[in-house]
Amino acid sequence: MGGISYFKTLVGQPALVTGANSGIGKAVALGLAQSGADVVVNYVTDPAAAQEVVSQIIAMGQRAIAIEADVSDEAQVEQMFAQAVAYFGTLHIVVSNAGLQRDAAFESMTLDQWNKVINVNLTGQFLCTRAAAREFKRRGPTPGLSKATGKIICMSSVHQEIPWGGHANYASSKGGIMQLMRSIAQELAPAKIRVNAIGPGAIRTPINTSAWDTPQAYDKLMNLVPYGRIGEPDDIAQVAAWLASDASDYITGQTIFVDGGMTLYPGFATGG
Ligand code: BGC
Repeated sequence: MGGISYFKTLVGQPALVTGANSGIGKAVALGLAQSGADVVVNYVTDPAAAQEVVSQIIAMGQRAIAIEADVSDEAQVEQMFAQAVAYFGTLHIVVSNAGLQRDAAFESMTLDQWNKVINVNLTGQFLCTRAAAREFKRRGPTPGLSKATGKIICMSSVHQEIPWGGHANYASSKGGIMQLMRSIAQELAPAKIRVNAIGPGAIRTPINTSAWDTPQAYDKLMNLVPYGRIGEPDDIAQVAAWLASDASDYITGQTIFVDGGMTLYPGFATGG
């Protein structure tokens, strides 16, 4: 974990992280486990990678299971939550993270590319956050363990705010996540369920390899990042662990951008 320390704030609070076998989801699953949570590692492809995350969590002294489910499929999501609750008794933290890109110039974007991104990134978050809310309400408050009855974290993106030519499907899905998150945060607050989002900028993961894997690409990317470095998955995991903990108990309905300043319109530092 590269010298990063986590506080044991999540002991006794099982978590489910979707898309937890790679990239940001993997780092978040490991970070929550470092914070003392047992973890459901959801995946849809590459079971070996999911199993590896499970092994790392078990090596930290926490419990973990890998569950395969396509987050855009209602029956599979329901089955996953039922299995998770059967295994851990309940869930306290759900990180709705699974997402993908199917980039295309707008005029050549196919309906399949549009639907795939909306189905996984947005409908997937609807299905997983709905299942989370139902489980949190079923279980009810657990005084002494957590001030909130449950915590939902939606993985959004800087592109819930920054328009992104060539990625209209992706940016639309993230804009949708923002209003899904805020609407359900408003609706679920009386039940003491907190709902927040993280808006990552450019993070070193497989989704955007071409943006950082050559010196030329990296230099170009830095024009968009005032802080002058790419984000690491642990940058997101740290914030997720905090958003899941009582340290952020009065925060709901917010997006925390973790982006090295990408949302600061860096072109205006020297222009405008
Ligand atoms: C995208 C990445 C991109 C980053 C910053 C993320 O949401 O998935 O591909 O590098 O936003 O533009």
